[in-house]
Amino acid sequence: MTGIKIIGTGRYVPDLVASNEDFTKIVETSDEWITKRTGIKNRHVSNGEPTWYMGLKAAERAIENAGIDPQEIDMLISTSVTPDYAFPALSNLLLGKLGIHGAFGIDIECACAGFVFALDMAQRYIATEDDVKTVLIVSPENITKYVDYTDRSTCVLFGDAAGAAVVRKGDKRSYSYLMTEGEGAERIYAHGIPAGNAFTDPEQAAKYAELFPKGKAHYMHMDGQDVYKFATRVLPVAVRKVCEKAGITPEDIDLIVPHQANNRIIQTAAKNLKLPMDHFYMNIENYGNTSSACIPVCLSELRDSGRIKQGDKVAIVGFGAGLIYGAVLFEI
Ligand code: ACO
Repeated sequence: MTGIKIIGTGRYVPDLVASNEDFTKIVETSDEWITKRTGIKNRHVSNGEPTWYMGLKAAERAIENAGIDPQEIDMLISTSVTPDYAFPALSNLLLGKLGIHGAFGIDIECACAGFVFALDMAQRYIATEDDVKTVLIVSPENITKYVDYTDRSTCVLFGDAAGAAVVRKGDKRSYSYLMTEGEGAERIYAHGIPAGNAFTDPEQAAKYAELFPKGKAHYMHMDGQDVYKFATRVLPVAVRKVCEKAGITPEDIDLIVPHQANNRIIQTAAKNLKLPMDHFYMNIENYGNTSSACIPVCLSELRDSGRIKQGDKVAIVGFGAGLIYGAVLFEI
């Protein structure tokens, strides 16, 4: 397996900001509780921007940052779990909006770990397919449209954003580890449109409806404590697995960029890995959890600030609904 190189990144965040103080006006909560339990202070939320629009802006910036002609892109992977349409795929829509011809698009649904799974996929296509040399990953999320703003345990956690990255073959090998624990699939979910048509018998449909967990319309349901335990358990596993493959130790990684779900999850994982917190990049304070957009937004900030430089070993680690998790270790 060859390696990958991220040659460009971009991000888009809505202008509209909801602070912890704003939440005290809609649910029984406080800035102190949210800050202490999650590390979040503000989150940018959609002011009606469609998901594709956010993705388009991030993608345009990533292409510009890479300094390439959009027509050089061979494959576009979209990781959004909050697209505007059930079909067509968001990747197809984005290729059209970007005016890219001669490329193919694939959507993957890997929740908050979407960018990690997409980077693994890009790495494999680049390694095995001579006709895929440049991959654009776009991760736009409008997760707040699934948020129940009467449920204080979930509504304070989420924000909207988009991140994108242009990926090409790198000189150094990259390593990945992906895993699904499907028995936890109903720990985090949002219902889709129920099955039914003009001929469906309502009594029979009501029986089938019992096959699903109870939910409030399309809103996100999350068993916070179970997910918390899952995340603190699997994050160190994913880091150790990619290190084992690469023959290095976690201390040898220059920077770990984790999914931004909760500061406390990362603090616990850092202790487990015996690493200081400055080994992890965190921006949750300003954005909250933006699902699959978290990691590429971090990477875009890191490139812009110069905090990551050529030769650095970076591990991205994601976890989320599925329940899934994974990591990719690569060199900048
Ligand atoms: N403000 C004030 N009090 C609150 C709030 C709030 N916003 N939310 C919950 N509480 C209360 C609860 O009602 C409870 O009160 P009680 O003791 O009177 O019943 C108390 O705080 C403790 O509740 P817990 O649920 O035990 O709080 P916890 O410390 O576990 O924090 C949280 C909750 C932040 C959700 C945490 O469990 C968490 O981060 N879980 C992981 C989430 C995650 O990683 N998601 C990632 C995937 S998301 C995706 O894939 C879409």
